[in-house]
Amino acid sequence: METVWINGEFKPLSEGHVGLEDRALLFGEGIYEVIAAYQGVPILLEEHLERWERSAAGLRLPLPYTRDQRREVLMELIARSGSDRISLYGQLSRGESRRAHQFPATPKPNEFWFARNLAKYPPELHEKGVKVYTHLDERWARRWIKSTSLLPNCIAKQYATERGGFEAILFNEENIVTEGAVANFWVVKNGVVYTHPANGRILGGCKRAMVLELARAAGIDVREETYSVDFMMQADEAFLTSTTINVLPVVKADDMAIGSGTPGALTRRLMELVDAEISSIIEAASAPAVQSGT
Ligand SMILES: Cc1ncc(COP(=O)(O)O)c(C=O)c1O
Repeated sequence: METVWINGEFKPLSEGHVGLEDRALLFGEGIYEVIAAYQGVPILLEEHLERWERSAAGLRLPLPYTRDQRREVLMELIARSGSDRISLYGQLSRGESRRAHQFPATPKPNEFWFARNLAKYPPELHEKGVKVYTHLDERWARRWIKSTSLLPNCIAKQYATERGGFEAILFNEENIVTEGAVANFWVVKNGVVYTHPANGRILGGCKRAMVLELARAAGIDVREETYSVDFMMQADEAFLTSTTINVLPVVKADDMAIGSGTPGALTRRLMELVDAEISSIIEAASAPAVQSGT
């Protein structure tokens, strides 16, 4: 049975409810997070909790619980799930109030979290890479907030899906590639890895930050710089990153091959580095605590 924790209580998922006038429902005025946990260990937990707090501040949403309380809830959900691979989904809204655009004077925030089995992607996805389709980035200016208002992302993802693509790659009015509908996007050209700067025009992914750190530590030339759709089409390699896909090679864009049309060497190197980092996070968290003292 799936469990939800909602406003302080654990319940069967089917019994968790918010009212019809919840402002996330009426206005898309909420934030969310998705966190992966393998073998009982959440990955990049503090980074996700920090982004949650940043996103809430970005919408001036009051936080009804402390980070310690939230972490405890998540660990309990992981334990109750009894599964080796889960994703934790959390959402926070300003809560219910009589419908009006301006914020209610006394908000009653709704916060909930639930755990889901995280199905393994078919291995050929990472082995062979995926196709993407480009779509105009129609989102608002505060993309650094992980907001539940995802309509432009849904439309773009649907556009790509209907063409048999895995992801939509978004570009702005200046032809600059920003990111994917549900993931960060990267290209490789002449041995240099490029990704759009986390300057508010993209969602700064937690996996993106991990990849930047691992790449730099490995001496890979990685640059947070903008690049155009043309540059992307001429790239040697491309890949996506996110919590659930980790590093996923992209081999075709708009039905044209990127580079050789197969996952590139740097992409594969970064896939290995991320896999190894996740294994070491799991190992470190699972190791018995060293006894201090004599
Ligand atoms: C628009 C967008 N960009 C990037 C990401 C990747 O973020 P993360 O690595 O934290 O999963 C996501 C994930 O949901 C996303 O929705």
